[in-house]
Amino acid sequence: MKKITIAIDGYSSTGKSTLAKQLAKYLGYVYVDTGAMYRAITFFAMQNGYIAVDFFDKQSLIDSLSFINLQFKFNADLGFAEMYLNDVNVETEIRTIEVSNFVSKVAEVSQVRAKLVEQQKQMGKDKAIVMDGRDIGTVVFPNAELKIFMTASPETRAERRFDELQSKGQNVPYEAVLKNVQERDYIDTHREDSPLVKAADAIEIDNSHLSREEQFNAVLELVHDIA
Ligand code: C5P
Repeated sequence: MKKITIAIDGYSSTGKSTLAKQLAKYLGYVYVDTGAMYRAITFFAMQNGYIAVDFFDKQSLIDSLSFINLQFKFNADLGFAEMYLNDVNVETEIRTIEVSNFVSKVAEVSQVRAKLVEQQKQMGKDKAIVMDGRDIGTVVFPNAELKIFMTASPETRAERRFDELQSKGQNVPYEAVLKNVQERDYIDTHREDSPLVKAADAIEIDNSHLSREEQFNAVLELVHDIA
């Protein structure tokens, strides 16, 4: 089987990472969650006081970008890679609702995108990679052999995110999660630099009514057709 690049894009909480992880594990590919990278930079900005409610010192973040080192390190016990920010594991910190509330603002900054896209391209230079995000099929890997664009209704997605947060002991009201999902969708699709858009050659999957298994099998069939 030849090695290919698989780009998975879509709205927040469509289950991109679940599908991407499953595929990578099955195919023996590397999995990269690019949302984690934007989240880690957001966490860095929060830690340094560059971002808070109604406040964003964009320039200080831009000036600090060269001091930010992001790395994925594989955790064999968990079976996936975790995000390290300047050598510190921030996997838990980057998944909070506070980071979710600010991340799309940080992801609008072109200098942030340029830094991360460069690193992502580098990670995919040998193919055999599944990468998920918002601009993977359009900007990071426009020549990816397989591009998937995932959608589901905002309510379905908010329910999934709500369950996920609950399971981690984060008691956030459902309405707040739904609001966050809708706001991120709006910012992600309306930003000037690399807005979330379905690539012309991407295959759209609406998984509102698909089980994980059905979805996985459908995509695997596409992989087999290509690889
Ligand atoms: O995938 P996840 O929901 O963790 O992504 C968090 C946020 O990071 C998104 O809402 C989006 O604003 C930003 N993002 C992006 N481009 C990517 C991945 C994520 O702008 N490739």
